Amino acid sequence: MTSPRPVTTETMQPDLAETGAVEERRPPAAKPEPEGRTTFRVWRGDRERGKLVEYTTNISPGMVVLDAIHQIQAEQANDLAVRWNCKAGNCGSCSAEVNGSPKLMCMTRLSELPLDKPVTVEPMRAFPPIKDLVTDVSWNFQVKQRIKPFKARAPDAADGTWRMAQSDVDRVQEFRKCIECFLCQDVCHVLRDHHLHEEFIGPRYLVHVAALEMHPLDVEDRVEDLRRAHGIGYCNITKCCTKVCPEHITITDNAIIPLKERVVDEFFDPLGKLVKIFSRKSRVASRESKD
Ligand code: SF4
Ligand code: SF4
Ligand code: FES
Repeated sequence: MTSPRPVTTETMQPDLAETGAVEERRPPAAKPEPEGRTTFRVWRGDRERGKLVEYTTNISPGMVVLDAIHQIQAEQANDLAVRWNCKAGNCGSCSAEVNGSPKLMCMTRLSELPLDKPVTVEPMRAFPPIKDLVTDVSWNFQVKQRIKPFKARAPDAADGTWRMAQSDVDRVQEFRKCIECFLCQDVCHVLRDHHLHEEFIGPRYLVHVAALEMHPLDVEDRVEDLRRAHGIGYCNITKCCTKVCPEHITITDNAIIPLKERVVDEFFDPLGKLVKIFSRKSRVASRESKD
């Protein structure tokens, strides 16, 4: 039996080290909640034109940007269009750009923002505006339809059930947290600045492909599509998508980079490809000899 790992006292306060007491970890002091009047510069417009319009409103402790927008809508601009559903960071509807950063309005507290100058609230730029803060995100759903769906291998047991390693199940679990807010699509320069919507499916759908490709039961092959139809080569791993994801999905490291590796293995590593073909053939031959 191995001995337990010795307790190190090097970094403990001397008095704590002597008594063996555990140091109390206090949460960082909360920022003071703002109160008073604040000005918001809200984008108002439609597909053809638009401009920032200033509204000043009362704010109170605990308010998020969506609260302020609703208050402005109720008090000063009844026709202000804003999309939202849950007000809890779950539905992905209230995506916008707050002071130029892609954010969920319902999860952005006013206490996090500098309020000594106006707070700018604009619609996502990667998609066409419909009205005010509401954008047309239907392109995303069309992209999803172009991705080959889940295709399960034959059951492992005669009763029609499968066997999976827990570690394989855990690997894709992260990708299933996506709420389709499209903030990652909005920040990605390939879509936002270069408008390559026809050639690149964007980080949200690379996450979706990763969830399918890495699923322990899936046998569909999407590697050719990743390279050609889905345009994975346009991604230059800037990680901007990972930084804005409200679900903290490690989009670049855990989804995009492994998919890029599959493309490289398939198309740019002939030796690796030969090894794979050979090992596949020997597996089939050994199965046939057993039968
Ligand atoms: S890492 Fe790739 S997908 Fe993500 S924002 Fe950058 S270019 Fe776009
Ligand atoms: S991956 Fe994250 S940022 Fe992108 S759509 Fe899903 S939840 Fe939103
Ligand atoms: S309203 Fe649902 S995520 Fe903001």
